[in-house]
Amino acid sequence: MGQVHNEILQKRVEQANMADYSRAVDEFRWEDVERNFSWYETGKVNMAHEAVDRHVLEGRGAATALIYSDAVREERYTFGDLRERSNKFGNVLRKYGIGKGDRVFIFMPRTPELYFSLLGILKTGAVAGPLFEAFMETAVKDRLEDSGAVALVTTPELLHRVKREQLPGLRHIFLVGGEVSEDSGLLDYGTEMAAASAELEPEWLSLDDGLIMHYTSGSTGKPKGIYHVQRAMIQHYYTGQVVLDLRPDDVYWCTADPGWVTGTSYGIFAPWLNGVANVVRGGRFSPQDWYKTIERFGVTVWYSAPTAFRMLMGAGKETLEGIDLSSLRHVLSVGEPLNPEVVRWGDKIYHQRIHDTWWMTETGAQLICNYPGMDIKPGSMGRPLPGIEAAILDDRGNVLPPYAMGNLAIRTPWPSMMGKVWNNPAKYEEYFRIAGWYISGDSAYMDEDGYFWFQGRIDDVINSSGERIGPFEVESKLVEHPAVAEAGVIGKPDVMRGEIIKAFISLRDGYSPTTELKEEIAAFVKAGLSAHAAPREIEFKDKLPKTRSGKIMRRVLKAWELHLPEGDLSTIED
Ligand code: PRX
Repeated sequence: MGQVHNEILQKRVEQANMADYSRAVDEFRWEDVERNFSWYETGKVNMAHEAVDRHVLEGRGAATALIYSDAVREERYTFGDLRERSNKFGNVLRKYGIGKGDRVFIFMPRTPELYFSLLGILKTGAVAGPLFEAFMETAVKDRLEDSGAVALVTTPELLHRVKREQLPGLRHIFLVGGEVSEDSGLLDYGTEMAAASAELEPEWLSLDDGLIMHYTSGSTGKPKGIYHVQRAMIQHYYTGQVVLDLRPDDVYWCTADPGWVTGTSYGIFAPWLNGVANVVRGGRFSPQDWYKTIERFGVTVWYSAPTAFRMLMGAGKETLEGIDLSSLRHVLSVGEPLNPEVVRWGDKIYHQRIHDTWWMTETGAQLICNYPGMDIKPGSMGRPLPGIEAAILDDRGNVLPPYAMGNLAIRTPWPSMMGKVWNNPAKYEEYFRIAGWYISGDSAYMDEDGYFWFQGRIDDVINSSGERIGPFEVESKLVEHPAVAEAGVIGKPDVMRGEIIKAFISLRDGYSPTTELKEEIAAFVKAGLSAHAAPREIEFKDKLPKTRSGKIMRRVLKAWELHLPEGDLSTIED
């Protein structure tokens, strides 16, 4: 595995290449993928074993696994190095009594230590919970509290955003870097790692045991903890081959942060299950920096997102001067609609098609994709992978014919389907309200060739720069500000970011609607939640449209914004 492609899978890729799609679909068996894992024989399951240890045990320990760089560091780690570091951290966790089923969160920037920690957590059978480094106090607290995290790995710079006194269940905090004083109640990651043994027998699990949790937003309520199980590795491995097209000598770069699902499923699991060198670039996005990263490390397979491509497109030709991107063999995109003009621009700049892929936090891995060899229709998300059945359903669950718009749904189950919504079985059930199907919340249509075309969200979830934002979380923060009486939040279409967050606010008596107040309110959300959740636009209104039960009607706010008819107002307050 990893080194040599499994023959059966190789055949699948060729079938896709030959566009013999229906044959590939008919002949597809998940079991053919499962055969590639050591647990298929042994029954002993552990993601970190398959993604790291197995390569070492099979003689590939000296192969490069991680190529890390930022403005000051540049480091390479082999699979052997990853094994040693993750074993050590696994032993550190065990020393503090942490093991199977415990939730251990990570809140730190992308550095090698993040990856060692995450793999170490998995070795102990604990469930990893990576948090995006830009999260602020409330966002961090909500997630640690809901998940019942017992331990956290973080850095001195981020520690002040962790409200320890409000999190009694959080027993241990490991600090990466900096000084740890005896009475701080903190543990020093470096000291602990130095003292730990590099030998460890992983916790052997079943395919139904926990793997990872990612919090994501819906249109109502606080963010939901989407809990994935070990079985997901089957699909991570498979899509790594047939969609990412990973081959043994590839240098692969996924630009997503592990705080989001793309940054783990495709920034950790898919490349390492396939034994491929994985580039991680720390620091912020800049067109020049990204192109230099591709050139410097000879990136062959590159997975990024539409907003980034649009920004690269906007950065102009100068950014490409003196840059050699000829190493690129395969380019992919995820997270938001990929405009046809960006695809066509990619044809010219990267000398290949940007391959759009569709999936969600809840789905755990790619489901509808453009993959190597198939005819790409710019603007379409592609076709369901062999092994996946997708359809457009009406609200009662009837399958609709081509070109009818409706609910994009996936036939259940598939290997990487979420295992539960943490602490919230009712929310979980909502996704499966139509028997035999997962309802995505996206609307789409299918054309006569079986290609799917994204149309929008059915709920009020906002997608800004590929980041999924729940209006409720933003509204809840807004009304904590002393000046805000009521707030309603919508996504406003934006050429670069897809959507931006716009807040409609009515003020409490005694506050005047000034520009300074707008800035202050935006800064307040930024400081509490994160920069990407802060409204870029605020509009003050005397009154917001509400239902008689007091719910703000975002639909009407959106209609105001887009100058559309307000629709059915029969439930409005007055
Ligand atoms: O609306 C769809 C959009 O992003 C949502 C999922 O967001 P998240 O859970 O954050 O996962 C993002 C990365 C897996 C979907 O419900 N989305 C994702 N991919 C696409 C997309 N919209 C259009 N085209 C896509 N390729």
